[in-house]
Amino acid sequence: MSHAAAPRPITAHPEAALGGRIRVPGDKSISHRSLMFGAISLGETRIEGLLEADDVLGTGRAMAAMGATVVRDGEGLWRVSGLGCGGLLEPEGVLDFGNAGTGSRLCMGLVGGHSFAATFVGDASLSRRPMGRVLDPLREMGVEVIARTKDRLPLSLKGAATPTPIVYRVPMASAQVKSAVLLAGLGAPGVTTVIEPVATRDHTERMLQGFGADLSVEVDAGGGRVIRLVGRPELKAQAVVVPGDPSSAAFAIVAGLIVPGSEVTVENVLLNPLRTGLFQTLLEMGADLLIENERLSGGERIGDVRVRASKLAGVVVPPERAPAMIDEYPILAIAAAFAEGPTVMEGLEELRVKESDRLAAVARGLEANGVACVEGEASLVVEGRKAGARLGGGLVATHLDHRIAMSFLVLGLAAEKPVTVDDTAMIATSFPSFLPLMESLGARFTEA
Ligand code: S3P
Repeated sequence: MSHAAAPRPITAHPEAALGGRIRVPGDKSISHRSLMFGAISLGETRIEGLLEADDVLGTGRAMAAMGATVVRDGEGLWRVSGLGCGGLLEPEGVLDFGNAGTGSRLCMGLVGGHSFAATFVGDASLSRRPMGRVLDPLREMGVEVIARTKDRLPLSLKGAATPTPIVYRVPMASAQVKSAVLLAGLGAPGVTTVIEPVATRDHTERMLQGFGADLSVEVDAGGGRVIRLVGRPELKAQAVVVPGDPSSAAFAIVAGLIVPGSEVTVENVLLNPLRTGLFQTLLEMGADLLIENERLSGGERIGDVRVRASKLAGVVVPPERAPAMIDEYPILAIAAAFAEGPTVMEGLEELRVKESDRLAAVARGLEANGVACVEGEASLVVEGRKAGARLGGGLVATHLDHRIAMSFLVLGLAAEKPVTVDDTAMIATSFPSFLPLMESLGARFTEA
């Protein structure tokens, strides 16, 4: 299985101010979907700015294993020749998704709408994560599941020749679950309806519409969304330009805010409102954060995010904001460690089932570096900075979680003492250029 490589511990050192302009790699959510939707469309989809990281490359290999042609040309443009909606072929080998929750869960939806079988495997982290949330609605649609351990990878799916178009209310805030049901619904004769009580990232909806699907979204009185998809559409290849990933930009942005004297700009960042909860929270904390050069690209709002080191104040982050910043709580916790007064984060139950139990991993990492915090069942309170405190000096267990590794390296850049993370190999799953990009801003990392 993938990611069995030796761990690579790294130490981040407190340094002088950070400064400069960078671009982060393409958005992970849009990258996965571009490859998948290209594979089920007719013609050649061209993808500019695809995130070339392990998670996304795994999705590319899965699409190729199911018959699509996926190639990268000399200029870094990815070309996907698709088979049309319903045209994927049974893969010969297992589909290995490594560390990727999005890749695996969305592909379960795709396979669910085809009448063939496929086996899904992943690394130790992915094999611990709950898949029942996707498999339950897929079973309702007629998909068969065989798993050694209930609803955990490795498992095999036998898709339905004629999936039942269902009405499904997503029980948790999850764009992956919503997307898996919609992707299986592409194969269903009729209208599949997904109701999400709280809005989650809407890339699947926007992009399926862009590829030609008949999909509508209605917002109900309580702010929930009713998504209706007409099955068996003819999807047509598109030209996709992937904007910079706000979840990757978050690390340089927070570093720029907490390392004294810094000024950092991250250009070309996706500003979809269902992804910008962190920026809103940082502004509420008093961050000197400006969006410049705002524009539209491929139907998405993008812009350059400029920050200057700021005196931050603790805030209460409303739980209903969680879906718009679900991947950013680890790095927000680092910002909160440098704020005056406590920062209260609630509605964090989904953090327990990410690449690691992120709530516990963040709390233990903070404690190891002298930051007081209180971990609740679904909440975290990070005590702000105490006068005279000397933060850092700890060794952080990353539990195969890229965002834990990157967040605590950022802590080490701003603390009084260096911070070591026990493994950085997993950073390659989402942001392979993280270390050199941060170094280009003035960060100092050494092998531990
Ligand atoms: C994603 C959805 C989120 C997020 C993940 C990417 C997506 O997961 O954490 O990094 O692209 O749909 P959940 O659906 O589990 O919240």
